[in-house]
Amino acid sequence: MTTLADFAAALPKAELHLHIEGSLEPELMFALAQRNGIALSYASVEEIRAAYNFTRLQDFLDIYYQGADVLRTRQDFHDLAFAYAERAAADSVRHAEIFFDPQTHTDRGIDFGVVIEGLHSGLEAARERFGITSRLILCILRHLDEAAAFATLEAAKPWLNRIAGIGLDSSEVGHPPEKFARVFAAAADLGLKRVAHAGEEGPPDYVWQALDLLAIDRLDHGNRALEDPVLTARLAREAMTLTVCPLSNLKLCVVESMDAHPMRRMLDAGLRATVNSDDPAYFGGYVNDNYRALAASGQLTQADFVTLARNSFLGAFLPDETIAAHLAELDATVARLNGDVSA
Ligand code: ADE
Ligand code: ZN
Repeated sequence: MTTLADFAAALPKAELHLHIEGSLEPELMFALAQRNGIALSYASVEEIRAAYNFTRLQDFLDIYYQGADVLRTRQDFHDLAFAYAERAAADSVRHAEIFFDPQTHTDRGIDFGVVIEGLHSGLEAARERFGITSRLILCILRHLDEAAAFATLEAAKPWLNRIAGIGLDSSEVGHPPEKFARVFAAAADLGLKRVAHAGEEGPPDYVWQALDLLAIDRLDHGNRALEDPVLTARLAREAMTLTVCPLSNLKLCVVESMDAHPMRRMLDAGLRATVNSDDPAYFGGYVNDNYRALAASGQLTQADFVTLARNSFLGAFLPDETIAAHLAELDATVARLNGDVSA
């Protein structure tokens, strides 16, 4: 008999909230440190993993930015992207929309072109090998200032054909979306989609700002929107996709336990929620580990998991016909898993 977790894992899905720098596994961190002649402050892979104990977002970010320092060359970014896409494809991910943090690299003297060319070639190689498709989303670090964000958008201009959208990440509290309203307006003029982390640790007001001042097409996390019924109703009415990250929420103490995760409440409120891994190398697993953790919490049914997988395609920045093809594959997979021989 197929367990609920196996059922969820087998569903074709999209991943819409994944920071490529957060997919840097300790093993690859060590290999890249060696290749680039960098001394790490950790003696072993086990020591790195033992350091991944967080009580809030900032604890994680401090370690995450430090880890990214081993990424130096085009080949490093290629290897990072290829490794993620290979791992995601093994989780039945058909399409991934991937964040990258250019400022984390350009502030260390790494050329924007090195980052994007490496990521792009790694993702192309994975598409050829595993059939997984992807888009890149440039994330602005919100703890830095507006001028730095504008400079990043300027640096991205030669590469806009490889960038689907702009995002907003890093330390949320104290850096509200309004700080970047003009940057997002400029990005919209360039034809970029807009997404923002909001309501992960920040209050519902930050979600309102992301909607009204950044004109977001998708909301990253959004957990705390549930504290405001008017906001929740608006998100449902507008069919706003929420890219929810259960294991991340657990590791960063956004929720107390997986049983207390708000996914059930999100679906009951009619929100278009999706399941994503955020920073899988740091939070204990890739997208199917997140689906499995929700399955183990007992709050969701088979039909809920089909809804979640469906939502992941509906929320993707893909042409309607491509989304329809993914949904047809999802329907066929569900019929097969349910033993419908006529399908
Ligand atoms: N950067 C990488 N992961 C993040 C998260 N969960 N929240 C904010 N910024 C991030
Ligand atoms: Zn994130």
